[in-house]
Amino acid sequence: MRDEYSSLHKTLHWATFTLFLVQLWTYPAIGRTHVDHPGMPVDPWDLQLHKIHMISGGLILAFGLMRLWLRRKYPVQPSSLPHPLLATLARFAHVALYATLLLLPVTGFMKSYIISAAGPVHILLTRVLYALLFLHVAGVIMHAVVWRDGLLARMGVKLPFQR
Ligand code: HEM
Ligand code: HEM
Repeated sequence: MRDEYSSLHKTLHWATFTLFLVQLWTYPAIGRTHVDHPGMPVDPWDLQLHKIHMISGGLILAFGLMRLWLRRKYPVQPSSLPHPLLATLARFAHVALYATLLLLPVTGFMKSYIISAAGPVHILLTRVLYALLFLHVAGVIMHAVVWRDGLLARMGVKLPFQR
């Protein structure tokens, strides 16, 4: 087992984070296109943002699948945690993050091309993702500030005050 994620896995993690920010930037254009102005001409830039949301979501799906394959092929030691319950919580959060990351693009494509009832599910999943990210970042801060175990380095970030 490795002590840190492979370079490709690290790159895909931070690329996914960047694409997540792209999703937050582009989604208001979807509402402006479909909901706010029914029957009125659509701003061409909003259509571009709409397209970017779909492409970026597709990349998030592809990167998520690649990372699941990479973590099977190059397993990484579980992070050290002071209580077994916290280890279970971390495992649950990672599984739930992967599941949400894969289901978001699936429901986004379904809403766009197959069945509009997938829209509310897509929106609900964004709320689940926000909650999981809150937990994820809170966990990372605990590792970095309280336990000071250099966990961020496993994902390629070296803090000056870490061991
Ligand atoms: C991980 C990938 C994705 C994330 C994080 C994401 C994020 C979001 C967010 C934050 C919203 C707005 C929710 C709200 O109104 O409060 C949204 C709406 C939407 N997204 Fe995505 N999205 C992703 C992938 C996709 C993909 C791949 C597509 C289509 C191919 C898509 C199509 C849509 C559509 C059609 C809406 C409007 C839903 C509705 O109003 O019913 N999304 N998305
Ligand atoms: C869209 C945002 C993010 C998503 C979807 C996400 C998702 C994930 C997932 C699924 C893992 C588990 C990797 C695996 O074991 O295969 C992970 C690990 C990790 N993430 Fe994130 N992450 C995000 C943002 C962040 C941010 C903002 C930070 C830093 C503040 C961060 C720091 C880390 C670290 C340090 C690990 C390694 C944990 C370990 O070694 O056990 N992530 N992330």
